[in-house]
Amino acid sequence: MPTVRDVRAKSGEEPITMLTAYDAPTAEIVDEADVDVILVGDSVGNTSLGYETTLPVTVEDLARHVGAVSRSTEDALVVADMPFLSIGVDEADSIENAGRMLKDEGAHAVKLECGQHTVSLTERMVQLGIPVMAHLGLTPQHVNQYGGYPRQGTDQDGAERILELARAHENAGAFSLVLEHVPSNLAADVTDALDIPTIGIGAGPDCDGQVLVVDDVVGLSAWSPSFSKQFGTVRREMESAIDEYVSAVESGSFPAPEHSHEADDLEDLY
Ligand code: KIV
Ligand code: NA
Repeated sequence: MPTVRDVRAKSGEEPITMLTAYDAPTAEIVDEADVDVILVGDSVGNTSLGYETTLPVTVEDLARHVGAVSRSTEDALVVADMPFLSIGVDEADSIENAGRMLKDEGAHAVKLECGQHTVSLTERMVQLGIPVMAHLGLTPQHVNQYGGYPRQGTDQDGAERILELARAHENAGAFSLVLEHVPSNLAADVTDALDIPTIGIGAGPDCDGQVLVVDDVVGLSAWSPSFSKQFGTVRREMESAIDEYVSAVESGSFPAPEHSHEADDLEDLY
């Protein structure tokens, strides 16, 4: 069984690889590629559920996708991202929502978009046996505060706040930290300051690992952020396959004789 200890042990030896996945076939492919950590991100709201932000994603939505991913994963650590307002409002509810991802859906850990309010919550969850991946820098659930998705930690105060919160979450027992869209020199400093591994997205090369949204990596997304990189052309592949299917049906070349059969013993029904 994959554990958070494996992730901690790998850091410092080799870069940690992490990707999102939301469904069974994608999880299978990501797992077979030996990716260390699969994040069932609340980015599922953008990638798969047709929302403009992650805010409408519910615990039910996330749980459904976590179940699909964990049923299809053998080796990777499966991390469930906690949706907007599913944690932080009330401690008991937060723990119930997070615990459910492990108890019922097969996740091994949860990820929390962090702030001052998640320090004691992280400590409580870890005490109870729910491993926590912290997430600092750009936290997209704050889109209404930011008015968009700007880079974080770009001035001294902002950078110090991120470093302090990173230390606080390490002390509270988080097993790793995602740093999103922060200057690479800040990410390098935070990585140096912590014992737990940092996993960057738009945070430069000096983190202990990297994470991206799988739809962006394979080239399925219609749009992807500038800090992402497209390693494939899945959207184009799908477009051309679907175009060919439509043409084949319209021209009558599909289905061909081999795609159906007649029953010899049937008599005409009229
Ligand atoms: O939801 C998500 O995909 C994430 C990653 C980008 C870190 O939080
Ligand atoms: Na997320």
